[in-house]
Amino acid sequence: MLYNFFILQLLLVVNQCFYTTSRRVKRVIRGTEVECGEQPRVTSLLNSTSLQHLCGAVLLSPNFALTAAHCVHFDTDQYLLQLNNYCVEDTGMYPKAEIFEIITNNRYNIESRAHDIALLRITVGMDDIMWLNDTVLPASSFGVSGDCKVYGYGFKNLYETDTSETLLEGKMRIVSLDECTEKLGPHVAPKFDSGMMCAVGDGVDSCQGDSGSPLICNGFLEGICSYGMSCGVSGLPGVYTGIGAHLNWIHNIIHLQLSETD
Ligand SMILES: *[C@@H]1O[C@H](CO)[C@@H](O)[C@H](O)[C@H]1NC(C)=O
Ligand SMILES: *[C@@H]1O[C@H](CO)[C@@H](O)[C@H](O)[C@H]1NC(C)=O
Repeated sequence: MLYNFFILQLLLVVNQCFYTTSRRVKRVIRGTEVECGEQPRVTSLLNSTSLQHLCGAVLLSPNFALTAAHCVHFDTDQYLLQLNNYCVEDTGMYPKAEIFEIITNNRYNIESRAHDIALLRITVGMDDIMWLNDTVLPASSFGVSGDCKVYGYGFKNLYETDTSETLLEGKMRIVSLDECTEKLGPHVAPKFDSGMMCAVGDGVDSCQGDSGSPLICNGFLEGICSYGMSCGVSGLPGVYTGIGAHLNWIHNIIHLQLSETD
C-alpha cells in the first residue's frame, strides 16, 4: 500500500517507549539532530492558520524555495515557511516567510507523482544570508553519487502529531531505478521518464525525512523527498524528485523572475 510521507511523516521516527516530558531529548531512532545554523536552508512549511508543520522546503535564494508539488495544493496564503534551523535566542521565534506564488511543475502528475516539484516565491529578509544563493544547485543532472543525507522535521513519535522543531538528518544512498523497481514493485517505483529517483537509508529507516525535504549529496541539492511505500521498514527505498532532471525548469523560472524584478 502506498503511503504518503505528507500524511504519515513518520520520518526519523521515534519510539513511543522513549516518552519523556523533555522536548529536547533525542528521540529519533538512528537519525541525528542537526545543530542550528548548519543547514539553515532547510525550512518547515507550515499551515499559516494552525502553524502545524506540513512538509519540508529548501531555500535556493532569498526569493525562492523548493518543495514537493503535492505539499502545496492550496492557495499561497494557506502556507508559511519557517526557518527552524536558523539560530535564534531560546524563544522559539524562528524567522518566517510568506509565500507569494506557488509554481508547480507543469508535468506534475497527481496520480503517478511524476515531477513532484514546486517552486515557492518568497522573500527572506535577513541580511546575514550569505548562505542563501543558488550555489546549492548541482551543475548538471549527471553523476549523482557519494554520500547523501536527507534532512527533515518529522513527527516525534508514531502516535503524536507533534513534529520536531529540531532538524534531523540521516545518511542515504542513491539506488538505481532498476533496484528501486525490484524493491518497490513496478506500480510504486517511479518510471524512467518521471524525473524521480530512489534512495535508501544507510542504517536509518527508509521513511526518513518529510515530503519536500531535501536530499543533499556532497553539498548539492539532488533530491526532494516525495513518497515511500511504508515507514520504518529498513531496506526499502524512498522516492525523491530528482533536481538534475528539473534543472532547466528551475533555472528558467529563477532567472525569468530575477530579470522581471530587476
Ligand atoms: C490549515 O489548518 C486549518 C485549521 O485547522 C484548516 O482548516 C486548513 O484546511 C489547513 N490548511 C492546510 C493547507 O493544511
Ligand atoms: C554562496 O554561498 C557559498 C557558501 O554557501 C559562498 O561561498 C559564496 O560566496 C556565496 N555566493 C554569493 C554570491 O553570495
